[in-house]
Amino acid sequence: MFTRSAKFVVVAILLGVLTTVKSFAPQAPLIASVQHPYVPPTTDDDRSPCPALNALANHGYLPHDGRHITHSQLFHGLIDGFGLSYPLATLLTFGGYTLLRQVPPLSLLDISRVNGVEHNCSLAHNDIPWDHEYPRLHVTADVCLLNKLFADSSDQRTLSIEDVARARVRRESSPEYKNANVTLDALHAEIARGEMALVLGIFGDSNEVSLDFLKRFFLNEQLPDNWRPRATQGLVKTARTARKIRAHMDSLRKP
Ligand code: HEM
Repeated sequence: MFTRSAKFVVVAILLGVLTTVKSFAPQAPLIASVQHPYVPPTTDDDRSPCPALNALANHGYLPHDGRHITHSQLFHGLIDGFGLSYPLATLLTFGGYTLLRQVPPLSLLDISRVNGVEHNCSLAHNDIPWDHEYPRLHVTADVCLLNKLFADSSDQRTLSIEDVARARVRRESSPEYKNANVTLDALHAEIARGEMALVLGIFGDSNEVSLDFLKRFFLNEQLPDNWRPRATQGLVKTARTARKIRAHMDSLRKP
């Protein structure tokens, strides 16, 4: 019933939940913003459709050229840059390589491999033809889509869980998506909610995140000034926020 990748992700989640997230909590680096200034990419650097991984490369938590990234570099980059717990960093690192069917090292360009982690109905990227394995075009966020995402903010100051749910329902029910007859399977729908759950938790208070920050994050792939992770972002916290997004989506879809 499940693919091998789906089984791996489920097992990794169960292992992570069984692990005491708090006891593994890493310490946030104190002088991260000094050690990790923002350096925009050059045209020679590889970048991915993931604004978070691109931001890690732009701030030097990952190799700035976005190439030859080892398991260890990705794992430590997620912990140092975002304050992820060890179980969550393990899940994203090994789950990511597995879904991408990628033998290390990894280039950020590999991350755009269609239907690996990449999925349809993205909030920031247009869907692309399935016969392209590495759609370069897909790496740049689509400004029209982003403006629609920002317009989903109910107070024009923050993006809340409810706003994210509204944006996801909008994307998943958009006419071009339905007409193109492309699918968003359960695993990728979960990944799509998880991406925004991570953003809400790492850069907000898990309920809302600043719109000004989101603009800088999606458009410049830049972390906040004087950034250092404020709290540990663990699996349970992320799963809880993703569940709330899903619950709001379900209630929005009710006739
Ligand atoms: C804490 C770490 C991470 C955060 C906060 C994060 C956040 C995000 C966000 C907000 C998006 C845009 C979602 C959208 O447009 O709907 C995204 C996209 C993406 N992320 Fe990440 N991500 C993280 C880690 C990763 C990892 C480890 C991988 C893979 C190894 C990955 C792969 C991707 C891919 C492929 C996309 C593009 C999805 C698409 O548009 O089809 N991300 N991520």
